[in-house]
Amino acid sequence: MAKVVTFLGTRPDIIKLSPLMPLLSHAFEHTLIHSGQHYTYEMDGVFFDELHLPPPDYNLGAGSDTQGRQIANIMIGLENVLLKESPQALIVAGGTNTALAGALVANKLDIAIAHLDAGVRTFNQRSPEDTNRILIDRMATWLFAPGESAREHLLAEGLAAPKISLAGSTTIDACRRNLHLAHMRPTVEQLGLKPNEYIVLTLHRAENTERGALQEIISAVNALSRIWPIVFPMHPRTRQTLGGDDPFNAAVKVIKPLGYLDMLNLVSRSRALLTDSSGLQEEAVLVGAPALILRNETEWPQWVESGANALVGNTYRSLMDRAWPILASEAALQSMRRKAAAPAGGATLRILRRLGHDLGTIRKLHTAGQPAVGDSIVEAVKAAALS
Ligand code: UD1
Repeated sequence: MAKVVTFLGTRPDIIKLSPLMPLLSHAFEHTLIHSGQHYTYEMDGVFFDELHLPPPDYNLGAGSDTQGRQIANIMIGLENVLLKESPQALIVAGGTNTALAGALVANKLDIAIAHLDAGVRTFNQRSPEDTNRILIDRMATWLFAPGESAREHLLAEGLAAPKISLAGSTTIDACRRNLHLAHMRPTVEQLGLKPNEYIVLTLHRAENTERGALQEIISAVNALSRIWPIVFPMHPRTRQTLGGDDPFNAAVKVIKPLGYLDMLNLVSRSRALLTDSSGLQEEAVLVGAPALILRNETEWPQWVESGANALVGNTYRSLMDRAWPILASEAALQSMRRKAAAPAGGATLRILRRLGHDLGTIRKLHTAGQPAVGDSIVEAVKAAALS
């Protein structure tokens, strides 16, 4: 049986990979390695518990550090484990430092790389996730594009068509699987909120959590809270920038990061979402919550083009000009809700089928005693995909 490693390390990785991991354990000899990039219960353990995932076989304990040291620490830890485990393939998702470090180590050890959310681009060179995704895609053997535009980006970058699968997004599968459980929770009531009468705020991106940018957003959030109360599960990175400061007015309820089910409950019953999260933007479309994106570009432009999401920027002025008129108008919010066509699911099975097919083919090549095409497993996969 082929040996496959899933490598993850952050909240969005765990959620994104959650529908795939149990199936991988049936189809392959499966090892789960956690980098330790996120490590507190509220950013990590709660998702393993709620999503009924087995504990990782290895935790590299990388933790927080400077960017370079974090990537280096993850690489050193992972190389030791991969040399011992010798898998045929390593699966990573998105554009975290964990995913980049995983791909670099696998590439050097000639282990085939599967990348979920391949081809997703914001074309913002200052976005660390975009740079990481581009680098991972160059090294990957299987490029699982979440949508047509991601597939086109990969082709435009010269990546070989046989490596690319139009898979869809596993974030959607995770959300669909868990929504009925989320709906049974009393999250909104426990927070003292009334359904449809509050706005959810999330904020964690590097460009939005540096002091100057954060201050602009906070001034705007305080102003917008005059329209509807705002509930803000604060990301640890944002908390770190603020130190001990509490710059919010009384209509902004700051809480700890929520578990996945509570978060889905909160978003699906909200009036609207103000966010710079990539995963939440997809989930908002699925649950029909108007999402106002605190950025000037997005990984999912299709939802902005359809009118289900709106880009409102991240300055005081842009938020007053673009977010205020939407949040203050029931007609504008209703129009966004109507345009939120539920994205198709099924990515998990498409990814599993492709990996099963290709790794099965590799196994046959090896057990027949034939040399793999070229001299690497990567070439063998390409050849198998072409046949
Ligand atoms: C993005 C990046 C990812 C990177 C991360 C951190 C992309 C496509 N993804 O992820 O590679 O690691 O930024 O920079 O660029 N949630 C909760 N509780 C909360 C808040 C959110 O469960 O309190 C859930 C949401 O429902 C969603 C996920 O967490 O499923 C989103 O995680 P988030 O931290 O917002 O990261 P992304 O922006 O999605």
